[in-house]
Amino acid sequence: MNKIRKAVFPVAGLGTRFLPATKASPKEMLPVVDKPLIQYAAEEAQSAGVDHFIFITGRSKRSIEDHFDKAYELEAELASAGKKDLLKIVQKILPATASCIYLRQAEARGLGHAVLCAKPVVGDEPFFVLLADDLIRGTGQSVVAQMAEVYARYGCSVLAVQEVPREDTKQYGIVKVETGPDGEMRVVSIVEKPAPAQAPSNLAVVGRYLLTPKVFEMLEETGEGAGGEIQLTDGIAALLEHEPVIAYPFQGKRYDCGSKLGYLEATVEYGLAHPELGERFSAYLRAFRD
Ligand code: G1P
Repeated sequence: MNKIRKAVFPVAGLGTRFLPATKASPKEMLPVVDKPLIQYAAEEAQSAGVDHFIFITGRSKRSIEDHFDKAYELEAELASAGKKDLLKIVQKILPATASCIYLRQAEARGLGHAVLCAKPVVGDEPFFVLLADDLIRGTGQSVVAQMAEVYARYGCSVLAVQEVPREDTKQYGIVKVETGPDGEMRVVSIVEKPAPAQAPSNLAVVGRYLLTPKVFEMLEETGEGAGGEIQLTDGIAALLEHEPVIAYPFQGKRYDCGSKLGYLEATVEYGLAHPELGERFSAYLRAFRD
């Protein structure tokens, strides 16, 4: 079974939920402790063997390209100051063998449109889509590595899902599933951001997808959906008429870093887990609470 070599990172969104922080800098560059969200997502993809990183970018997103590029001046300064550890940190953001490809999405026409922009680069291979504002700490291995195992078994598209409170269905793609022969969840239908009363379940798609290239054909035919945008969810709904799709309740914890509360939760938990800061931060929080 093919290895998944390519991952698409749609990063053209405006990040309006984080204004004014995102007025001049991309939401994907917001740091959780000491790494920007986009780096967590890229590292996650790398952990599953990805070596082609395809960013669907837009105006005012230049700092993402710079982040994954070589920083000559900074590296020269760090080298001459003998700061070897820091030098290693800036040089090892992605391995030297990684290819980073940047495509500009000129207009904000939706997630489905962003994914379709990647078609010429992805070609005829299965690929991941990672939404960097969903930060996910996988249990044991990363969520995309878990999804690659599901793909190796079933050879079809895989969507990461989790249960959400009913009142939140209008923020997500929601799936209806039936149980397959091995207990796997087979997607029967999928709908973008339904009102709680119309939602077919409370099983939400979060920002990790493993898709077969057939989805591109579907997206080419997909018209504007919820919010007047071309929705990836609608492309997946069309895909269901041709191929099976599996919903995968991943092992791990997701932080919705597109929301201020989720971002703060991630900051606290990643701060507590940080090898250098964890203990002191934990002591600070304990003292703060008392
Ligand atoms: C997007 C998708 C939605 C999915 C969500 C996961 O919505 O359109 O189907 O459930 O990501 O985070 P957005 O959060 O961009 O509004």
